[in-house]
Amino acid sequence: MESRITFENVREAIEKLPMLSPNVSRLLQIMADEDYELDDVVNIVKYDAALTAKVLKAVNSPVFGLLNPVTSLDRAISYLGKWIVVSIILSDSTGDLFSRPLAGYEGQQNALWRHDLFAAFSSSEVARYAKQSFEKELAFTAGLLHDIGKYVFAPFWKQASGEALGRIEEGSVADYLAAERVLAGLDHAQVGYEMARYWEFPEPLQQAILYHHTPEQAPERFRALAYAAHLGDMCAMMAGCDTGNDGMQYQLDNGYIEYFELTSESLAQILLETEIQFKQAISSLSLEEEVDK
Ligand SMILES: [Fe+2]
Ligand SMILES: [Fe+2]
Repeated sequence: MESRITFENVREAIEKLPMLSPNVSRLLQIMADEDYELDDVVNIVKYDAALTAKVLKAVNSPVFGLLNPVTSLDRAISYLGKWIVVSIILSDSTGDLFSRPLAGYEGQQNALWRHDLFAAFSSSEVARYAKQSFEKELAFTAGLLHDIGKYVFAPFWKQASGEALGRIEEGSVADYLAAERVLAGLDHAQVGYEMARYWEFPEPLQQAILYHHTPEQAPERFRALAYAAHLGDMCAMMAGCDTGNDGMQYQLDNGYIEYFELTSESLAQILLETEIQFKQAISSLSLEEEVDK
């Protein structure tokens, strides 16, 4: 048990991370506001030459097959949709954070980035089935960020992770999250919450990150969002888009039925829609990387 982690260890590691650019922080704030408009997003991107170039390159990539090149940012953003724009911007501003291989999880390079993106699309698809009015865009961002804790947690987790699956198998812990807590003292959701607070993410996002595996424990006003991230995460794992040895090693919380009208047909529909959006986003993003090299 010598590999136990403390909140101090985590805070020290977080302080070494690159800061999110003010533009990304503002964009996340805007996404959390129910009344935000496309113009607000355009206004952030347009003053940043590098971001503008990235967005225009993405929209003009062959993936979208547009006959005439798009040269205006307004058109590019309304065409791509705010979600893909946020993904481009986030992948741009966090350096290699999203693409690091996750040693503790035996994850491949980019596995977490792909997992996050898949979860983002499925969380926002899930949001369409909400019983009460619900912000689809916010669900997307919550899905995208739900596992950020793994970036910081993985190096600490390396030593103990070998034991996790054995513990689950023998039934001494309920799932992977519990294994993290028992073997390391903390879990990746708690670490993610610390990161979200450090980067001053809006409160609904902080809470969705903290409770994405235990949504029933989220405060009532954030619970639907936590369930959307929870289900998005599950969909990503069901689609085989996991982050390594923790794939499908978490418990599904059935309390979602109180918040979402989901049947096995709608779930199949969500997976189908997500696959399409995910493939489109992945090709436009990886093309971006190639152009930059
Ligand atoms: Fe997670
Ligand atoms: Fe996840």
